[in-house]
Amino acid sequence: MFKYTMPTNIFFGKDCLKNNLVSNIDVNDKPLIVTGKRSAIVSGVQTDILEILKNKKIEYEIFNKITENPKLKTVHEGAEYFLKNNCNMVIGVGGGSPIDSAKAISVIAGNKLKNREIYNSKKIKNAYPIISIPTTSGTGTEATQYSVITDSNIDKKVGFGTPLMFPKFSFLDPKYTISLPKIITRDTAVDALSHLLEGLYSKKRSKIVYPMIFNGVKLIFENLKNTINDLENIKLREKLMLASLWGGIVIAQTGSTMQHAIGYPVTNKYSISHGLANGIVMKTVMKKYYPAVTKDLNELFDFLDIKKNDFYEWLISLDLTIGKKLDTEFIENNIATVLNTHNMANNPIKIVANDIRNIYNKIN
Ligand SMILES: [Fe+2]
Repeated sequence: MFKYTMPTNIFFGKDCLKNNLVSNIDVNDKPLIVTGKRSAIVSGVQTDILEILKNKKIEYEIFNKITENPKLKTVHEGAEYFLKNNCNMVIGVGGGSPIDSAKAISVIAGNKLKNREIYNSKKIKNAYPIISIPTTSGTGTEATQYSVITDSNIDKKVGFGTPLMFPKFSFLDPKYTISLPKIITRDTAVDALSHLLEGLYSKKRSKIVYPMIFNGVKLIFENLKNTINDLENIKLREKLMLASLWGGIVIAQTGSTMQHAIGYPVTNKYSISHGLANGIVMKTVMKKYYPAVTKDLNELFDFLDIKKNDFYEWLISLDLTIGKKLDTEFIENNIATVLNTHNMANNPIKIVANDIRNIYNKIN
């Protein structure tokens, strides 16, 4: 049986925001633009949105306090600002952090949530419309029902999901990613790669998304290094953005796995990007899962016209490293956290404490 859900209206390509936001927003809307200090401005998105809003005489507010690994405290502050200013829609602009924050603000405001209620899906009955405009190619959140917000009480990244958090519209224009530096380009692409591979690992994997998985992995495998060496090449940027979108559509159906669960604590403790946290365990996780999904992975390698070891070599050549071993105390303190993360329900094999310990110990 196949099941496929994608309620988001997706616009992809050159000038898609300029040409299509205008007919999908009107004077009754009052958006809160949710973003960080830089990305909306540097990417050029803010200029393009404000031009449309001003031309149509649409009122708006800006909340630009979102940082990497956004905190519960900050999104509550955003929701308060949203309600106080009588906004009725959110526009998330940036990488995963601002868009996930926009989603969180939409449901906190929509349900007047308190404290940690956002993590309880039963409390979420309403959401304000969400528009997403990615300025990186990795997160996939523009096409998912998920958000990840750091629980400020326990300082841990916690993911949650509800169909109400699928954006109503997502606008993906590769030109907004042109200004991304090498490392962010690499790390975000590795996040997208992770989503695509996890779609294939997941217990909920479904053949309906295999064409996206195979073609998405191929786009990254064949074009990531070229993009890193030619950052302003719009054709290459477009390929990575498409792979990232496919990664999002895939995990919206399949969920993610241990690959993501195991990376969250490392991001928090060692202050590394989400994409790199996935990347440093990618080869080990693939090896661990290979016996359970041999046929599917072999089909992927055939599609790429390579051998398994060629893929491992390519991963190594991306230089995904944090330059040190994880300390034992950190590993022991986080094994239970990883095992209790909701993504672990999708693993294709049973994972026990010692598996997590071994994977963490291989990081360097
Ligand atoms: Fe991710």
